[in-house]
Amino acid sequence: MQVALEIRPVEAVECAAAVLPAFEDGPGQLPAPAAELYESKEFSGKPNETALLYAVPGFAARRVLLYGAGKREKLTPADLRRYAGAAARTLQAKSLAQGALLLDGELAGAAWVQAAVEGALAGHYDADALKTERNNGRKLESFTLAVPSGDEALRAALERGRITGEAQNFARDLVNEPANRLPPAELAARAEKMAAECGLECEVLDVHRLRQLGMGALLGVAQGSAEPPVLIVLRYRPEGAAAGAHLGLVGKGVTFDSGGLSIKPADGMEKMKYDMAGGAAVIGAMRGIADLRPAIPVTALIPAVENMTGPAAQRPGDIVTSLSGKTIEVLNTDAEGRLILADAMTYAARLGCTHLVDAATLTGAIVVALGHLRVGLFSNDDELRQKVLSASEAAGERMWHMPLDDDYKDYLKSAFADIPNIGGRWGGAVTAAMFLREFANPLPWVHLDIAGTAWLDDGKPHLAKGASGVPVRTFIELAMAW
Ligand code: BES
Ligand code: MN
Ligand code: ZN
Repeated sequence: MQVALEIRPVEAVECAAAVLPAFEDGPGQLPAPAAELYESKEFSGKPNETALLYAVPGFAARRVLLYGAGKREKLTPADLRRYAGAAARTLQAKSLAQGALLLDGELAGAAWVQAAVEGALAGHYDADALKTERNNGRKLESFTLAVPSGDEALRAALERGRITGEAQNFARDLVNEPANRLPPAELAARAEKMAAECGLECEVLDVHRLRQLGMGALLGVAQGSAEPPVLIVLRYRPEGAAAGAHLGLVGKGVTFDSGGLSIKPADGMEKMKYDMAGGAAVIGAMRGIADLRPAIPVTALIPAVENMTGPAAQRPGDIVTSLSGKTIEVLNTDAEGRLILADAMTYAARLGCTHLVDAATLTGAIVVALGHLRVGLFSNDDELRQKVLSASEAAGERMWHMPLDDDYKDYLKSAFADIPNIGGRWGGAVTAAMFLREFANPLPWVHLDIAGTAWLDDGKPHLAKGASGVPVRTFIELAMAW
């Protein structure tokens, strides 16, 4: 879908449908037919309420879509992002080819423009790549933002929103793709292709190299699968970067998680193709970062494995030696994400990263704690935590600060190795993060548990069922705002 900015009245934009945000406060400047609908109480501007008007006098567009946006003074860019997405989905469902969204008054600013573009691109996305009749042939081809007046700053905001929205959708495609079509080697091939197109460096460490390096924790997870593991490394280097902060983004890339011998129940197992959503988010974010060129160097690391039950599968009770030298007792083979992340984080430090942020569909426990609305955020460093929280707020990806008190470490005791890969029954998201902390220290580090937020079981007005693309936007914003 093309996105564009038109600096002129929306009335003048010729297209299939002009979209007008309509607020609960009343019709305001809306055209007379809209005011009539308010009058007759057929329409009130409640969130996601819609009304379609035809042949509205003064409008070059063939239709006017009123889009309910709630109370005007409560509207935030995050709300607008969702409304723009929902409006794009509404037009698409009606087989309309072009839309133009009015942003006037206070909404004609850079943050609003960026959010609206991101929302429209994300809303337009459908996971139909493998349907032989894509979306029954219906496609919204262009989405225009109409601002009555503006300047170059708005064009830059449009471009930033476009790059960010496309990066998010790129990640969603990877996540929605099933595990038979996207094993670790194929995920690496996609990263390599993207890197070549965007001017990033990409290095793929194969199983021989991983053995040579001694990544026993990662290799232990992979050994039950016929698909060989890889560690994908993407490098972004700005021109003339001074020695200083070097951001490491680490993403869990389990292309399928059967649980291994500690096998998962059949019900819902098909969803475990999304266990590489952290890795996909990191790859997507790097695509955006390559285009937007922030000042900070960024290295991305995606350990990619399949967790299976083959004849060589790792057993509960096995003890592996991680790259850090620490020994790990694998009490549950389904707690595999932390094992591969441990080795990737040790390697990130060796590559010179000074700050680490990981994203991982790590625990069912974070879903119990926070549901599907907020990412669980854990950190060993107040300053980095604040940076990530600010970025997440600007990006409209909600997060919640979770605890990592030192005495949670008492939950992680092994009789036979340095550390077990699981804690007891309680605080599962916290003990998983405590495990990771052992491998992140002493670097400042933030862990994002996205098990509840990377996948939508049901579609929403603004987003299709399936991969959400969280936290691509936060990662891009973090690098840009550093
Ligand atoms: N990939 C899962 C976590 C997960 C659960 C992601 C639900 C998305 C939705 C992870 O590898 C896992 O299996 N975690 C276990 C840990 C347990 C064995 C300590 C879990 O959460 O049950
Ligand atoms: Mn698992
Ligand atoms: Zn997993």
